[in-house]
Amino acid sequence: MCGIVGYVGEKQALQVVVEGLRRLEYRGYDSAGVAVVSQGLLDTRKKAGKLANLESLLGTDPLPASTIGIGHTRWATHGGPTDLNAHPHVSADGKVAVIHNGIIENFAELRAELALTGVTLSSETDTEVVAHLLAAVLPDAGMDLAEAMRRVCLRLAGAFTLVAVHADIPDVVVGARRNSPLVVGRGDGENFLASDVAAFIAHTRHAVELGQDQVVELTRDLINVTDFFGNAAEVTEYEVTWDAAAASKGGYETFMAKEIDEQPKAVSDTLIGRVNDEGVLHLDEMRLSENQLREIDKVVVIACGTAYHAGMVAKYALEHWTRVPCEVELASEFRYRDPVVGPRTLVVAISQSGETMDTLMAMRYAREQGARVLAICNTQGSTIPRESDAVLYTRAGPEVAVASTKAFLTQIVACYLVALYVAQVRGNKFGDEIAAVVRELAEMPRKIDLVLDTTEEMKALAQQLKDAPSVLFIGRHVGYPVALEGALKLKELAYMHAEGFAAGELKHGPIALLEEGVPVIVIVPSPGGRSLLHEKIVSNIQEVRARGARTIVIAEEGDDSVVPYADHLIRIPACPTLLQPLVATVPLQVFAAAMAEAKGHDVDQPRNLAKSVTVE
Ligand code: M6R
Repeated sequence: MCGIVGYVGEKQALQVVVEGLRRLEYRGYDSAGVAVVSQGLLDTRKKAGKLANLESLLGTDPLPASTIGIGHTRWATHGGPTDLNAHPHVSADGKVAVIHNGIIENFAELRAELALTGVTLSSETDTEVVAHLLAAVLPDAGMDLAEAMRRVCLRLAGAFTLVAVHADIPDVVVGARRNSPLVVGRGDGENFLASDVAAFIAHTRHAVELGQDQVVELTRDLINVTDFFGNAAEVTEYEVTWDAAAASKGGYETFMAKEIDEQPKAVSDTLIGRVNDEGVLHLDEMRLSENQLREIDKVVVIACGTAYHAGMVAKYALEHWTRVPCEVELASEFRYRDPVVGPRTLVVAISQSGETMDTLMAMRYAREQGARVLAICNTQGSTIPRESDAVLYTRAGPEVAVASTKAFLTQIVACYLVALYVAQVRGNKFGDEIAAVVRELAEMPRKIDLVLDTTEEMKALAQQLKDAPSVLFIGRHVGYPVALEGALKLKELAYMHAEGFAAGELKHGPIALLEEGVPVIVIVPSPGGRSLLHEKIVSNIQEVRARGARTIVIAEEGDDSVVPYADHLIRIPACPTLLQPLVATVPLQVFAAAMAEAKGHDVDQPRNLAKSVTVE
């Protein structure tokens, strides 16, 4: 949610900030704005709509040259996406500009208090109160912007990342964070603040993690971090392992197309170094001891959206390989239902961004109950892994498109690794059994590549079906979460009605949705091994076809049993059913992206959404 950039250095700030915003636009794109300080004056420009609208405005109404600036792309919470509500917000004296990500829960109270001092807010946002509060406390704080920020933060309830500049303090940018991401980029004679390293990766790969409830003061040569009471804080520095090219489109039309194509590498990178030549797993980096893993009596997976679907796949693998009971729960529901978790529960929090507020709050709750939390995360230095007892990083590289693709596949792989490791430690499987699965896993990047070579049919199908009022997806076993994921992709990208069902559940109600020509996409498990499962789904295909549905069947090479019932047959390489989501999901991603394109939608930035959801 909301992208934030701050810069102080020797370069033209506006250019650095706008370029950073472009890299963060995936976080929110309702409106955008910038502020610079030049010759003792604060100047802002802001505009509703995507960043391009702001850039046009800057073309016709330029800002003065400056080496200090802040910028924001917004995902609206309080107040609609208008020019007026766009950030930065400026204090009544025109001296302080503030940008914000999160929600200030006590803003109504603060607004009422400001009203008593004669300050009227000009926007509908919660953010604006911070600009006025900073202006009010600054004289008392000795015109020290960091000190003023600390005092104001102590008055705020809720989640926030705040970044501010002041017209009379032309060499300082100040930031603060509570429950919302903010990272510092350490440059040479220049420093950066951003919601995500992507904003400054073209300038520096040296990043500084900010902790909870901290304020950072930045000049071009100094980074000073304190807690909200002014005590010096320890910070962790790290090197970002990817570069600017990884976060650019690299010749593709969309980030999503690029990220779909990157999946073989993402899967293979996530496996590298975690298994030796004998198929023995080494996950020491995870920071959970073998004894701790032996003690667990239950696994609870918490996650949202696509990550939740990865968790659903994990349940099948984990229970099958380890015999440890596993529950999968939407993070947004978890802490509100008094869940049964304790010291012997392993909670697995899955999150690409590592900042999803629902997941963060759920894992904090689980830790309060004594559970150990293992994060499966793609973003180094983000809050969820930092606050977890253990972490296994996926190595998908930066995922920019709002619709998650390569993160999903790597989350599944990370879950498989954890499940196999638990089985290895607890002795649920013999070494050669684990090694056999690992060999199959190592084959998956090649198989995903094969799927990527044959996506034309899915694209053509999207053209044909673009006016369909609805698309249904059905699957059994791990094919069920794949069906849910296919439907989610279509909803978020093509804005159309799409539902995923457990195929066996259709007859208990949803089958009434079927009428002549309704597209039903069926994920067929491997006919080998679990043939009962396969037989059942072949019957389900016949049931939907008998009711007029247009069947689009995703089945493995050589599975001829489905041929008579498939209006369209999409082939995927043969692999054990448990690993099949790694190949079966790919045509569905391609289908959803092609459908969005056919309908003329923005594939990378679907309406109303943001990549990183930092509000509950
Ligand atoms: O960063 P996270 O993995 O925690 O994000 C969770 C969901 O918000 C995310 O997967 C969302 O559902 C995707 N946009 C779906 O494509």
